[in-house]
Amino acid sequence: MMRNIVAGNWKSNKSINDAREWIGVMERDMDSLPDDVKVMIAPPAPYLALLVNLSSSRLLYVSQQVSATQSGPFTGEFTAEMLVSCGVDYALIGHSERRASYGETEEIVCKKVRCSLDAGLGVILCCGENLETRDNGEQEKVIRGQLLSALEGVNALEMEDVIIAYEPIWAIGTGRTATAEQAALMHKFIREWIAMRFDSETALKTSILYGGSCKPSNAAAIFAGEDVDGGLIGGASLNPEDFKSIIRAASSEL
Ligand code: PGA
Repeated sequence: MMRNIVAGNWKSNKSINDAREWIGVMERDMDSLPDDVKVMIAPPAPYLALLVNLSSSRLLYVSQQVSATQSGPFTGEFTAEMLVSCGVDYALIGHSERRASYGETEEIVCKKVRCSLDAGLGVILCCGENLETRDNGEQEKVIRGQLLSALEGVNALEMEDVIIAYEPIWAIGTGRTATAEQAALMHKFIREWIAMRFDSETALKTSILYGGSCKPSNAAAIFAGEDVDGGLIGGASLNPEDFKSIIRAASSEL
């Protein structure tokens, strides 16, 4: 069973030429990276089909966005089927930036999960509490609520295509990381919740990633947590050298 994953999220950054250059550097060094870590990248959507065709099968592709509907008169939307037809493997769903700024409600998150799983597109489901919730000690309650609603109607078999990313909002892009202990505790909580909601085998097989100011200098300490299976990396994924260090830190062969 391979749970270790490092996924990069470029967000709204890089030109197509910068993206090509990054892929070139990654591909050149791919063989020297630990082979017990799955490597994923989420470039801006317009580049996906092209980059998929430039890459080896070792590099998996993630869309930062996916529609909550099937195809039809929905200007600007792109469906899970379309992404699958372009060779995309996963979609990020429920990222806090989309929840906060683009009206991605729990109902929409749940619909996106359903559309993706039905189309054979894997899901990286993001959850995370804000600072006020953390200060009030209510983070587990919030995460439980987010997972419960996002995974409504999902069965244990479908969980094989779901990755969970725990991203405390106060740690995203702020330079302030959760401590290794805070991450370890929350990941343990999430795994126990999956065991309760589904079963213990499903919980064991599910990858739970940490996201939020993860970088080469702190990745190894965060990934050392028993239930921390890797990371969702924003800022530090833009530079291929930083990203490679984080991939090395996620290997169990350390
Ligand atoms: P960050 O972003 O690593 O830049 O904090 C993480 C994310 O939003 O996935």
